[in-house]
Amino acid sequence: MDSILVRGNGPLKGQIPIAGAKNACLTLMPATLLTEEPLTLTNAPRLSDIRTMTQLLGSLGAEVASLQGGQVLAMSSHDISSRHADYEIVRKMRASILVLGPLLARFGEAEVSLPGGCAIGARPVDLHLRALEALGAELDLRDGYVHAKAPKGLVGAVVDFPIVSVGATENALMAATLAKGTTVLNNAAREPEIVDLARCLRRMGAQIEGEGTSTITIQGVDRLGGATHAVVTDRIELGTYMLAPAICGGEVELLGGRIDLLAAFCEKLDAAGVSVEETANGLKVSRRNGRVRAVDVVTEPFPGFPTDLQAQMMALLCTAEGTSVLEERIFENRFMHAPELLRMGARIEVHGGHATVHGVEKLRGAPVMATDLRASVSLILAALAAEGETIVSRVYHLDRGYERVEEKLSACGALIERIS
Ligand code: EPZ
Repeated sequence: MDSILVRGNGPLKGQIPIAGAKNACLTLMPATLLTEEPLTLTNAPRLSDIRTMTQLLGSLGAEVASLQGGQVLAMSSHDISSRHADYEIVRKMRASILVLGPLLARFGEAEVSLPGGCAIGARPVDLHLRALEALGAELDLRDGYVHAKAPKGLVGAVVDFPIVSVGATENALMAATLAKGTTVLNNAAREPEIVDLARCLRRMGAQIEGEGTSTITIQGVDRLGGATHAVVTDRIELGTYMLAPAICGGEVELLGGRIDLLAAFCEKLDAAGVSVEETANGLKVSRRNGRVRAVDVVTEPFPGFPTDLQAQMMALLCTAEGTSVLEERIFENRFMHAPELLRMGARIEVHGGHATVHGVEKLRGAPVMATDLRASVSLILAALAAEGETIVSRVYHLDRGYERVEEKLSACGALIERIS
């Protein structure tokens, strides 16, 4: 099991290229199941989660060719031989549930393992199932699998989501493209990854309006064609690396960065004393004057502050001047990075969904353990600014969502290396 060794080393300077979005790619890939024609994704990120989705699609009979070092995924679902998504693959990655809607829409049947929980929460899929039932699916939950049927095909309907769910919106959106008639998704998720999926589906011939707002309307069509689509920039990778110069000092340019993907996050950085400047190539980030100031954070569905940047922001606020309160409203257990940050000298009190952070001048390096994807990178950010040496273990979590993190950071002067 690999670990990452980091030595606190002062200001960073240089450029970091931002890859395509993991959470867009993980919903764009299952869209290949909706058509027998080729679907090609460019600007795909090179991550273990993408390899897991490739394996899952392959197990269904789809062909996924990973070209140009993994940046291009040439997919074809002409010969889907199976509708069974096995627990062995699904348990490794919850996004596997996103094959359910497309399989149902195109073939009228699917057998998908329930994903089970994960470190940050129970992660139920009841909203996915409710939406597909509204579209006419007959669902039977037994032996850990969803057995879904729609022998006469799906039928358009009004779907009212009681809470905003990114994945349930994606499953319903993909299924509705081939349903008979009109579907309206109310209280739909507005994330940029949803907008990206809608744009790709439209290129494939889908009739969709309203993506990016809370109401998405889909006119079902008989079939979808192929397309080529560039995966949108990863706003979570972007936000993560914007925090590197914020916590260490110096100046870093994030290539491909766009402020519109992270407006709420950039507002918080501004309030904390971090300058974000748009350049011809992306975003340039630096601290306005030395130590950042404490700010309060509440995580919300887009366009609010992203839950996927909460752990990373906490690392910054551990070194801020003053006391910050972070409220995690999306997941029930997403402060597991806090005990690890405490080992580095941070002062944090967690009560339920609130974490109160009293900033300290300097963190101190220590051996720490990654518990989930975003927590692992939060520890690396803290280690960059800490005195001394930090070893982050269980970095397989990290590789799920960040390609070549040690290369990208060491190119800006960070002392960071992977040790097997
Ligand atoms: C997506 O997960 C992302 N994953 C998550 O990123 C992200 O944190 C999350 O959206 C919120 O933005 C991918 O896109 C692959 P939700 P998803 O459905 O779709 C509850 C990362 O680090 N809920 O919007 O699973 C759920 O428990 C990952 O890249 C139900 O109750 O998130 C949560 O409390 C982590 N029933 C809330 O809704 C359901 O059927 C939001 O979940 C579905 C969700």
